[in-house]
Amino acid sequence: MKQQRVVVLTGAGISAESGIRTFRDNDGLWENHRVEDVATPQGWAADPGLVWRFYQGRRRQLHEVAPNPAHLALAELQQGVEDFVLVTQNVDDLHERGGSEDVVHMHGRLETLRCEGSGRSEHRMEASDMGDEFLTCSCCMEPQRLRPDIVWFGEMPMQLERIYEAVEDCDVFIVVGSSGHVYPAAGLVLLARKCGARTVLVNADAPQNLDAFDEVHLGKAGELLPGLVSGWLSEGA
Ligand code: APR
Repeated sequence: MKQQRVVVLTGAGISAESGIRTFRDNDGLWENHRVEDVATPQGWAADPGLVWRFYQGRRRQLHEVAPNPAHLALAELQQGVEDFVLVTQNVDDLHERGGSEDVVHMHGRLETLRCEGSGRSEHRMEASDMGDEFLTCSCCMEPQRLRPDIVWFGEMPMQLERIYEAVEDCDVFIVVGSSGHVYPAAGLVLLARKCGARTVLVNADAPQNLDAFDEVHLGKAGELLPGLVSGWLSEGA
């Protein structure tokens, strides 16, 4: 795999062993909230206080979690292959803290907040940024309210052009810890396959789009990935 172009797509499952709950493993509830209430523009318009407090909780949680062996293994894979792009649906920073570089966060990030006026994102992780009160931006003359820098349901994922380009050009496409429910991320494996890539899955259980994979490894990412990465890096080509 060393000389091949590799794209990895990760989902909530890769952070599960770090203690961050996944989305679809608990009766459609996410940390006791309906996803529609806390992860849609309509939810934000209806009750911004609830949504804000919800994401402030997720942001504070970043201080309590650490990368697991799966995150570290992907950083090692990046170092070992010539051409590598890591795309994640996750909004946590565990890939970066595990050593991955230039991570494409297609559903946004928790460490940044977005100005509702200008649309600009700013890094806001000081102690004074972590409370339950709304925060305002530092980019507008009259500071505007900040919203979570998250792609909610019904909003356009970030950096799609870059993602499609990488997937169309790759030789190997690897998905780790994603249920294959949410598009367009779930459709990337089909695009990769159509373009001739070998498709690989590492997931706790069989996802929605199982048939799209040439190679399937069912189990916990933190247990499987370190060994898989060592094997891939010792492959001839
Ligand atoms: N190792 C590997 N896979 C795991 C592990 C683990 N330790 N634990 C859980 N999984 C798998 C589950 O079996 C499931 O298939 O990870 C998957 C997680 O699926 P989801 O919770 O649906 O997460 P994801 O696919 O990332 O969701 C996509 O949906 O709510 C939105 O924007 C949100 O980015 C998110 C998107």
